[in-house]
Amino acid sequence: MFHALSIAQFDVDTTFQLIRRAEALRAMPRHEARALLAGDIVATLFYEPSTRTRLSFEAAVYRLGGQVVSAENARENSSSKKGESLADVFRVVGCYADAIVIRHHSAEELDAAAPFSPVPVINAGAGSGEHPTQALLDAYTIWRELGRLSDLTVAVLGDLKYGRTVHSLLRLLAKMDGIRIRLFHPEPLGLPPELAAEMRDSGIPIEIAEDLEDAVRGADIVYQTRIQAERLQAEHELCATDDYAIRRSHLAVLPEHARILHPLPRVGEIDPAIDPDDRAAYFRQAENGLYMRMALLDHMLRGELG
Ligand code: NCD
Repeated sequence: MFHALSIAQFDVDTTFQLIRRAEALRAMPRHEARALLAGDIVATLFYEPSTRTRLSFEAAVYRLGGQVVSAENARENSSSKKGESLADVFRVVGCYADAIVIRHHSAEELDAAAPFSPVPVINAGAGSGEHPTQALLDAYTIWRELGRLSDLTVAVLGDLKYGRTVHSLLRLLAKMDGIRIRLFHPEPLGLPPELAAEMRDSGIPIEIAEDLEDAVRGADIVYQTRIQAERLQAEHELCATDDYAIRRSHLAVLPEHARILHPLPRVGEIDPAIDPDDRAAYFRQAENGLYMRMALLDHMLRGELG
């Protein structure tokens, strides 16, 4: 049984197949798409807050003709509160649903429990570990905006320590050709050592920028992220975020073809004044999530790739 837990499970071919399928599903008449998962039920279990990920997964299921059963705020409102193990939750929910989409606070618990699920499990964000479906929709967005996923200078900014979207995206980009990475982060919030080592081993060039302007100058993609305030563990990790905010002045050093991405939510690290600029792609990115999640569900429940 295939559980989508890490972006490591997605090779370049599968990523492009999912991108093609997402494009096909976007263009498909709604009544046709509704036949694809007709009769299927997907459970969404969210132990951490979410807007885009949960609602886009649920909308994806409905657009494919399936139905959703859901536990939101599951850390408080589900049997976990009574001490039930995640393995038991999967064993039981797997009797009711054909797939389980889960956001959990512990990547380790999720990885350990998934093999007990009788139905496919999809990681919708696990602690400060990974967020593989976000990386797939980020790749889809880069491909859609720039027409390629190779030969790119990508500036990755913000909380690289706790930001799970960055962890999955960097691992996916490392599989593509001709990628150059620039990082800029508050001092205490650099890449976790094991990911830094993985990136070094992959051989892709990584620079650490001196300041924000340096980081974004001439980049093809700027990937901005939020400081994960809820995950900071030490006093010294608290940092002033002002130096890390993209403002209109930064657009002057960013090529016309470049794109600014952000997994959202943003909380000050992108000035809304730049939203009308064509290079601001984050809301299109959020929309792409719907089609990528349709493609992934279709793939996992029907073995369908485009
Ligand atoms: C992100 C997440 O939950 O990891 N949001 C999302 O899924 N689009 C980013 C974040 O919370 O900062």
